[in-house]
Amino acid sequence: MRHYPDWKRRTLLSRALSENMQLEQKVNILLVDDRPENLLALEAILESLGQNLVKASSGEEALRCLLKQDFAVILLDVQMPGIDGFETARLVRERERSRHTPIIFLTAFSTINTHVFRGYSLGAVDYLFKPIESEILSSKVAVFVDLWRKTAEVEQQAVQLAAVNAKLRESEKRLSQVNDELEVRVQKRTAELTKINESLQSEIAERHRVEGALRVSTEQLRASLIEKEVLLKEIHHRVKNNLQIISSLLNLQTDYIHDQRDLEIFKVSQNRIESMALIHEKLYQSKDLARIEFCEYIQDLVSSLVCSYEVNSSKVDLKVNIEQVLLGLDLAIPCGLIINELVLNSLKHAFPEGRSGEICIEFYVESDDRIALIISDNGIGFPQGIDFRNTESLGLQLVNSLMNQIGGTIELNATQGTEFKMKLPM
Ligand SMILES: Nc1ncnc2c1ncn2[C@@H]1O[C@H](COP(=O)(O)OP(=O)(O)O)[C@@H](O)[C@H]1O
Ligand SMILES: [Mg+2]
Repeated sequence: MRHYPDWKRRTLLSRALSENMQLEQKVNILLVDDRPENLLALEAILESLGQNLVKASSGEEALRCLLKQDFAVILLDVQMPGIDGFETARLVRERERSRHTPIIFLTAFSTINTHVFRGYSLGAVDYLFKPIESEILSSKVAVFVDLWRKTAEVEQQAVQLAAVNAKLRESEKRLSQVNDELEVRVQKRTAELTKINESLQSEIAERHRVEGALRVSTEQLRASLIEKEVLLKEIHHRVKNNLQIISSLLNLQTDYIHDQRDLEIFKVSQNRIESMALIHEKLYQSKDLARIEFCEYIQDLVSSLVCSYEVNSSKVDLKVNIEQVLLGLDLAIPCGLIINELVLNSLKHAFPEGRSGEICIEFYVESDDRIALIISDNGIGFPQGIDFRNTESLGLQLVNSLMNQIGGTIELNATQGTEFKMKLPM
């Protein structure tokens, strides 16, 4: 709990004191004497003090006055008819309210009873002998007036202090209430934050779990991809092997064929199968299992054709001008077969009876979506009577139908030797 600082307390107190000073009031002084002339004399002496002088002509009257108000000091004549000064003093002392009111006895020296005074000497009692010296009386009374004032002042200050203290306590209570409310709000907010934190934690945990699961499934995917690649490679390898087996079977069969024309048909079929087997071999060797380096493939294909036709390489030159291009299986197989047919035709038909010349193969990317393939020879030339798009023979029929299949175009230029110009979509 917080308290007011010292400076604040001091300010409140001094404000209260200064208010008190302004309220200075006249003080009551009780004059008791059975003789009116004595009362008048006392009044005359004390008038200059400027206080409220109350006169009583007997002990009884004095006691009645004490019932009505409080007095700073009582001037009490000792010898009075009825209850005398001492008895009056005793009764005054009996009352709680006037127990500490100072009493000054006024007495003739001759009537002094020292025992009685001694009895009173412990209380706030003084005595003066008649005839009274006005200066002494005035100054004694002034002392009591001052004492009364100071006491009253202190009492009032005590009351104000109590009020200030009560205010302070009230403020402290309010402060404590505010503190308590604040604490409750802080606790509530803390609880909310804790809840949010917990839900965040569980969200993070969930995310970690999902990430972990994702990692696992990515790894599984990668593993399965690797597995599939291995499998695909294996399939290319087996397809190639099977095609080679077919080719070998055809080759074995040729031993039993005696007709030259039938033999030729077998040989061409064998070439076709081998050109396909070569593609699968290239795919099997390729890093990218779906696409092959077509340049390498054409070179291998053409040299194997030359070998199989036992062409004297000193008579027929092969010129190959091929750009590095990666081709997918869909395009590579028909392209391979087309090249197979056209190069074979040049080998077979363009240079009869040991003639010499050259065969040219060009393959390059013409635009973003088109490849150019040109196969030409400077042999005897394509027979004028044959429509290359519409032949009886299978070779060129195959070329045309494959070209249709891949959506390409083919043109023949027979002005000098034979030149087939083809455009293939990428
Ligand atoms: N480069 C060529 N030079 C000369 N004649 C050719 C050439 N290509 C094809 N021919 C002629 O076109 C004919 C048809 O060819 P093709 O359909 O491949 O059948 P095949 O080759 O089995 O005879 C061939 O018989 C040949 O007379
Ligand atoms: Mg042919």
